[in-house]
Amino acid sequence: MLVLGLETSCDETGIGLVDSERGVVGGEIFSQVEIHRPHGGVVPELASRDHLKKILPLLQKALPSCHLGMIDAVAYTKGPGLIGALLTGATFAHSLAWALARPVIGIHHMEAHLLVCELSNKAFKPPYLALLVSGGHTQLVEVRGLGRYRLLGETLDDAVGEAFDKVARMLGLTYPGGPAIQRLAQNGCEGRFEFSRPMRSRCDLNFSFSGLKTQVLHAVERQGGTGQDRADIALAFETAAVDALVIKCRQAIEQSQIKKLAIAGGVAANLRLRKSIGSLCADGVDIFCPPQDLCTDNGVMIAHAGLLRLQSGQSPDRFPQVHSRWAFDELCALAT
Ligand code: KG4
Ligand code: ZN
Repeated sequence: MLVLGLETSCDETGIGLVDSERGVVGGEIFSQVEIHRPHGGVVPELASRDHLKKILPLLQKALPSCHLGMIDAVAYTKGPGLIGALLTGATFAHSLAWALARPVIGIHHMEAHLLVCELSNKAFKPPYLALLVSGGHTQLVEVRGLGRYRLLGETLDDAVGEAFDKVARMLGLTYPGGPAIQRLAQNGCEGRFEFSRPMRSRCDLNFSFSGLKTQVLHAVERQGGTGQDRADIALAFETAAVDALVIKCRQAIEQSQIKKLAIAGGVAANLRLRKSIGSLCADGVDIFCPPQDLCTDNGVMIAHAGLLRLQSGQSPDRFPQVHSRWAFDELCALAT
């Protein structure tokens, strides 16, 4: 079964082609970064308009390896995300599926991030824990199978990606903040600034990043005058944010006794996080980090999640539907 995946939840137009036998057959991404950069963040109206402009040419570019008639099903991001951006993908997916007389299915964006771990590493099977870290989410999930998820903890305020983006702005860096902080932190000197690790002493598995953000703001205002100061602050922030994530992963492993952990979502592309989470291997934990290009938003993950959902017997969608918010827990009800 060959599934076409369409991702339009935020600022990347993603096309993916995943086949049940051959795996990933193709993929194209257009990033809107340059369009939103002058505004310091994503402008929803500009995002929707650009998805509309790019989705068809991008699909044509992704198709040389096969033609439209070979597609057996269409999957699209149904939520969570920007409503206008989601609608462009949903209506395009339904129109195409109708024209081809093929089934169409809406996918939860964070589930697609999570399942990409199983696509990249066929040997990585449930049960496992997943740390989902993106621009809008920071969640720890226990995965028992497709749609068999238990939310163990999540952020009480900002998502970690959002914290990276906001701190980047404080440091005068351009959008998107995560990669910019990672680059600047490489020039930082350790030990000049020290920020606390939020939620460290609590035994629940929730996260909080707004206090850390405020600590950074105070440091920038008081001592962030030179380029070196800002690099040192970037390093201290990145280290604290990564530590906060790894501390909760360690607690989740101890509490659940599941010694298998995957990370996913845009922030999982962060090199310090990948290295630091890898240190858990020393405690006998099986760690998996997907390739960086599959961590940030892409169409392949949507095609893969669509393939798994359809193979599991989930009914296709009858009409385009999108959710700007969509609780992860609700996914369990979709499982067959
Ligand atoms: O999953 P994603 O591409 O989109 C959402 O679903 O939100 O994640 C985007 C987030 C942004 O906040 C971006 O700054 C962050 O991921 N990000 C990073 C890195 N690459 C992307 N954060 C830290 N380090 C990175 N290398
Ligand atoms: Zn994402």
